[in-house]
Amino acid sequence: MRDDSGFAEDVWLLPGSDVRMYGIPFTNRSTIIRLKSGGLWVHSPGVPTDGLFEAVDALGPVEYLIAPNKIHSLGIEPWKTRYPKAAVWLSPEFNKRHPTIKGDGIIGTDAPIPWQDEIDFHIFKGSSFLDEVIFFHKASRSLLVTDLIQKHDPEVQSWFWWCVKKLVGVLGKEGGTARDLRKTFRDKSAARQSRDQIMSWDFDNLIICHGQCLRGGAKASVQDAFAWLGPTASPA
Ligand SMILES: [Fe+2]
Repeated sequence: MRDDSGFAEDVWLLPGSDVRMYGIPFTNRSTIIRLKSGGLWVHSPGVPTDGLFEAVDALGPVEYLIAPNKIHSLGIEPWKTRYPKAAVWLSPEFNKRHPTIKGDGIIGTDAPIPWQDEIDFHIFKGSSFLDEVIFFHKASRSLLVTDLIQKHDPEVQSWFWWCVKKLVGVLGKEGGTARDLRKTFRDKSAARQSRDQIMSWDFDNLIICHGQCLRGGAKASVQDAFAWLGPTASPA
């Protein structure tokens, strides 16, 4: 498989087709985690590319398709068509934006989450726009973030997009939450609580959909990415 596919044991990164949001070009990726059952948990399935499904099939049967926020929707239906037995789990507000895409479960309701023993989750609060679910794969100590943290690769940007992404705050290792997205967090107190919940997890790696992932040392980087929320709560 392409990209730095073998990110950790039982964790693979899948490069997807580039996407545009509000005209801004983004690289995009999905992540596959093999659960103890042998089944595959697919985070943010993207638009299928040539040979993608064959590569996935070599890893095991697809058990779950995860829509981590209401924006990342493009791959859900083609993956469900290819893997009809896979259970689709949607972010809390996904169906408000995509009422015709049916899920088998909504994350954050009372429904038991079948993979939670291996992959914990938290719905990041405080935004009037984004309903992002953050995940923590315990075995690989990896945090999975979709849009809330972006670190676009400076080496592949045109001069123009390098400048735009620098100004927006999503370029390279200093990247974090885009400045326009920060403005949607009207409830900063709720966002700080979410940030603190995430920081309480024992992660060391960061997997993101847009930009460069981090192997090791991710906690300090995530802390920096949320600096706009102010200091972390002091331990009691
Ligand atoms: Fe995105």
